[in-house]
Amino acid sequence: MKVLEPHAMGRPLARLDGVVKVEGTAPYAFEQRVEHPAYVFPVQSAIARGRILSVDTRAAEAVEGVLAVLTHETAATLVSDQNKELWVLQSAEVRFRGQLIAAVIAETLETARYAADLLRIEYEQAAHDAAFGAGRGDLYAPDFVNPRYPTDTDTGDAEAAFSGAPVKVDATYSTPMEHNNPMEPHATIAIWQDGGLTLYDSTQCAHGVRRTMADLFGIDPERVRVLSPYVGGGFGSKGVAHAHNVVAALAARQMAGRPVKLALTRQQMFSLAGHRTPTIQRFRLGAGRDGRLRSVIHEVIEQTSRFKEFAEQTATPTRLMYASPNRRTRHRLAALDVPVPSWMRAPGETPGMFAGESAMDELALACGLDPIELRARNEPELDPQSGKPWSARHLTECLREGARRFGWEGRDPRPRQRREGEWLIGTGVASSTYPRYSIPGSRALIRYDSEGRYEVEIAAADLGTGAWTVLTQIAADALECPVEAVRLRIGDTELPYASVAGGSSGTTSWGSAIVAAAQAFRERHGNTPSPGAQAAADMPRMPEEERFSMHSFGAQFAEVLVHLDTGEVRVQRMLGVFSVGRVINPRLARSQFIGGMTMGLSMALHEASVLDPRFGHVVNPDFAGYHIATHADVPNIEAHWLEEVDGHSNPMGSRGIGEIGIVGTAAAIANAVYHASGVRVRDLPITLDKLLAAGG
Ligand code: MOS
Repeated sequence: MKVLEPHAMGRPLARLDGVVKVEGTAPYAFEQRVEHPAYVFPVQSAIARGRILSVDTRAAEAVEGVLAVLTHETAATLVSDQNKELWVLQSAEVRFRGQLIAAVIAETLETARYAADLLRIEYEQAAHDAAFGAGRGDLYAPDFVNPRYPTDTDTGDAEAAFSGAPVKVDATYSTPMEHNNPMEPHATIAIWQDGGLTLYDSTQCAHGVRRTMADLFGIDPERVRVLSPYVGGGFGSKGVAHAHNVVAALAARQMAGRPVKLALTRQQMFSLAGHRTPTIQRFRLGAGRDGRLRSVIHEVIEQTSRFKEFAEQTATPTRLMYASPNRRTRHRLAALDVPVPSWMRAPGETPGMFAGESAMDELALACGLDPIELRARNEPELDPQSGKPWSARHLTECLREGARRFGWEGRDPRPRQRREGEWLIGTGVASSTYPRYSIPGSRALIRYDSEGRYEVEIAAADLGTGAWTVLTQIAADALECPVEAVRLRIGDTELPYASVAGGSSGTTSWGSAIVAAAQAFRERHGNTPSPGAQAAADMPRMPEEERFSMHSFGAQFAEVLVHLDTGEVRVQRMLGVFSVGRVINPRLARSQFIGGMTMGLSMALHEASVLDPRFGHVVNPDFAGYHIATHADVPNIEAHWLEEVDGHSNPMGSRGIGEIGIVGTAAAIANAVYHASGVRVRDLPITLDKLLAAGG
């Protein structure tokens, strides 16, 4: 593949959208100016399973300022019931507690919210089951795990090889239900006019939301416009449409021309915006005394909803991380009366690598080997699962470079050896990995304007990742012009199709389309185009995807303090070294890496959604109960990367950076906690009670 000559790429350009964001003039979905909006407040079910017998709307409708109450009896009929999560206000059936079952539309948000409380809803309650656990008899194997990987894999005889191995680790790790909590809650403004629908939506995929809405309402996608120029985070929860989008559209239809605004509250997001499944993972490693793996077995239990399957790909990183002649992976699901799990930053890799990289740490101790040396000894020449060559695999370089920068050398591997005052000190390391994905279909259009600038159009989304800036840099290099000569337009379905900002695939997919469009433009118009000249192109096919196994890798280090008396854990410093192909913008890449590592720290020490199986809802649905790392929790974090260009991945030489930063963090911290305290916490988050209970 021909790789672009970097001029703009590689420069630490400040965010092009930074100024408007700091000024507060960048319109997020809810802030878009529309004429005379009405407000929608959603009503959620108070039971986890059953039927709605009646909704008495009289008291709500009597409130001054209430415009309408939507229920399953009054809302318009949707056309497609393909996706049961989006089949809202269509039937009396309740499938999980917190389901969206009615909505009040009013002149003000306060009125809508007040009136929502006045609905009298009678239910016929059915027995529900929301108890996740390993002991269930009804666990099942899905047909595949996301996005479409085999559910189980077997190479050699992993059980026999494990039994016969001289050194063994057999441990069970667990991670809790977690919720995406972007700063900007999910929000939509919907306008239904002349048989068409416009949504100002906080989404990672404008064209995806358009398609979903068109299917649900049975209208031509051309009649649906979705705008999302600025998105205040998402981490995957905004990768697909959710029920509130549908209710906003239904409300807009009811209001016939008048715009409606709907923003989920933080509490509502804990049932309506997806979640990361809890996992229980048994990990077995069998090795020779030299640390060389003979068997790797990773068996995962996770949850899905009874009405729609979501099968997280938790064991997939285990299939390629290390060389072992015998390997087995398994995924089993418990189908429960809970909301549908969904995408959350590095889905699969994040919980799966917590287990795998903790187990590797345990194996290093069992073999008396340095954990970096253990990993280096198990480097696979080829992708162990596919047998394909790597486009680039530099895990060992990341580990060695990280060790050098972190000051790993001379570390005493024995736990509980360093102490300062009342604090025990320890260090830990873990590997990271994330696949390099591309998603076909993206298209870019380039137009030369009368002021001598190139307008570059693609409906991409920037959810704080830096797409505004990075796509401009790519376009400048593809057109061989200065960045100032590029005017980018994104976040609008009037612009050419763009795939989701997800799977760390955005820059690869959209950037490749932009490069192709630039080539088409130059071929057609040369270097001295006339105003109005334009050309468009699709993301090209990428045959090298078939020939190479493309993944990013990283090494993550952590130093922690554990308090002798209380078990309190403080992370002192973290350091990551990543191999991600070319870094297109070092300033923004650093921000992605340290953002991911911060989220990983938060996962390691704080985040857990507590679902009460008696009622089926999350009992801590706010920032008082669901703790997310704050500034005071976050230490000095360093992110570095290898100088690298992956010519097999895409014309930029990059592989994607949005997710890998979170992947190894929790294991690095757990391993450091063990090193400090001698207590192995295998159940996230690492709260102080677990250290005390284990005799910390
Ligand atoms: Mo990311 S969870 O693929 O948006």
